[in-house]
Amino acid sequence: MEAMRTQTLSLRPVQLSDAALLQELFLRSPGYFALIGMEPPGLEDVIRDLHTLEKDPRRRAFLLFLEREAVGYLDYKLHYPRAEEATLSLLLIREDRQGQGLGQRALRHLMENLVGVKRLYAVVYGQNPRAKDFFLKEGFRHVKDGGPAVSWYARTLRAGPDEGLL
Ligand code: ACO
Repeated sequence: MEAMRTQTLSLRPVQLSDAALLQELFLRSPGYFALIGMEPPGLEDVIRDLHTLEKDPRRRAFLLFLEREAVGYLDYKLHYPRAEEATLSLLLIREDRQGQGLGQRALRHLMENLVGVKRLYAVVYGQNPRAKDFFLKEGFRHVKDGGPAVSWYARTLRAGPDEGLL
């Protein structure tokens, strides 16, 4: 654990050529898909999703690397629902790497780097108590349920230095 904390965590935008890597990450995280009642996506599905993503300039998707190993994925949308807000639709840490502080590090890194974003939403699908606990612990609060299987959480982000508040 001590060694892990000193290992470098980095985010790199997902490209179409990452489809197989991303699918492998999903396949190695079966618990999440069981939780949301879906099969892990096949390669074709991942490729299609990456194409869809490319067409939406507000969508941002990253692979999370621990040193050189792909250990997670995150996907959010800028200027959504409102101009100075963003919505995280998925933060996924590879199953064998969960509970080691990586999700927390990735989320904090993201929040520090979302310049100009005043509020970050997190949309949690399905019965996912772990994700809910995780976001509450990171300063989010429950804002609404969008139907039985979707819950929205949100938190404000600290003002950027350009706003003269630091
Ligand atoms: N049960 C309950 N809470 C837990 C657990 C667990 N098994 N593991 C971690 N947490 C909580 C703890 O409160 C922990 O705080 P601590 O430092 O006091 O122990 C805190 O989360 C941070 O733990 P991390 O080790 O950083 O969590 P992890 O790296 O596992 O990331 C995440 C959390 C993203 C939920 C991860 O477990 C995961 O990828 N799960 C599967 C996919 C998923 O459900 N993603 C969220 C979907 S919703 C959305 O992304 C908007």
